[in-house]
Amino acid sequence: MLLRYPARSEPAARTVAAATSASHPATAKRDGRIGIAVIGGGGFATETLLPAIGATPDFALRTVVTRSSASAAKVAQEFGAAQASTDPEGVLADPSVDAVVIATRHDSHAPLALAALRAGKHVFLEKPMGITREQIDALRDEALTSGRIFTVGYNRRYAPLSLRVREWLATSAGPAVLLYRVNAGHVPAENWTLDPNVGGGRIVGELCHMLDLLSFWLGPELVSWSAAALPSAQRAAPSPQDVVVSLRFRDANRNEHVASLVYTSLGAPALAKEWIEVHAGGCTLHLTDFMRLEAQGARARTEVLRKPDKGHRAEIEAFRDAIRGAPNALLGAEEAWASADLALRIDQQLRAGAATE
Ligand SMILES: NC(=O)c1ccc[n+]([C@@H]2O[C@H](COP(=O)([O-])OP(=O)(O)OC[C@H]3O[C@@H](n4cnc5c(N)ncnc54)[C@H](OP(=O)(O)O)[C@@H]3O)[C@@H](O)[C@H]2O)c1
Repeated sequence: MLLRYPARSEPAARTVAAATSASHPATAKRDGRIGIAVIGGGGFATETLLPAIGATPDFALRTVVTRSSASAAKVAQEFGAAQASTDPEGVLADPSVDAVVIATRHDSHAPLALAALRAGKHVFLEKPMGITREQIDALRDEALTSGRIFTVGYNRRYAPLSLRVREWLATSAGPAVLLYRVNAGHVPAENWTLDPNVGGGRIVGELCHMLDLLSFWLGPELVSWSAAALPSAQRAAPSPQDVVVSLRFRDANRNEHVASLVYTSLGAPALAKEWIEVHAGGCTLHLTDFMRLEAQGARARTEVLRKPDKGHRAEIEAFRDAIRGAPNALLGAEEAWASADLALRIDQQLRAGAATE
């Protein structure tokens, strides 16, 4: 017996109108607002980026894109997007989308951002900028010539207490010594962030945050660096997770500063995640988890926020302001590339087993 099936005339629709929720009515009309699509609706987008976008006037959430239609529909409904999609290309061709936020896993960052810029969209790309040199170089070149706003989500430089540290350093007007300890925590070997082809490892995927912040505080010029690491005990995670990096920077006034960045997966879970100590001109600053800042010495004072603020909300507002043409306080392509480039060089050297450069 021969069974004949009708030929499929059209592919299944991959972008659909989202259901509305009572708490977040869909923002189908832009009303002069910036139409935005979010590609990637996982843990970070739903806990941090989408709430920040929802709280920022001037954005109209057009589309949420994920790999599976079920998660796209769920996240789109939860955050009041007009559409849910599994088709990034279709979303980039949508003229009602002015800007895209990309929060997928790391291997798709650079290809999606490149395609978005080529489609004429403004791009907010979660870190890292890419996981290979070819990716970050091509993306920087495209961003610099695209005429569109492009940034990478190094949120710590927008944190209120980070800005205080920068002001404090500027008024110190002399050399500084900085210690930055990151209690990064253990990540199981099978986690995607450790897969060199998906996450790129923790140096490329997370240490880039700290390298950017140090450059923001002490740079812009990186004079030299050296790095040492414990060998990775996990076969599936060849990228080191316990690293000490020494860096020397030169600021715009030609002051030189040195920093020691200690990143470990071996610390006690209860210990603060990020602890920073800065010494300059006989004074000391302690910053703990972007929540408590204590100055000792001539300018002694303590500032404690009600909860940690790592700058996520402020960076989304800065993205909006840059699109609207306000003086651009946003991290640009060249600076974003510099931290990505340094992270790749440190990772490559440590994987190769060398200790210094
Ligand atoms: N700045 C920070 O403080 C911070 C903190 C944490 C994480 N992050 C960053 O946030 C990003 C996402 O991390 P996460 O933990 O949220 O990851 P995740 O939970 O795995 O979420 C990834 C999301 O991307 C979607 N996706 C994957 N490939 C896609 C593609 N090609 N096209 C469209 N959608 C795709 C997935 O769809 P499905 O849902 O269908 O699988 C999922 O919704 C990463 O870049 C990470 O480094 C930043």
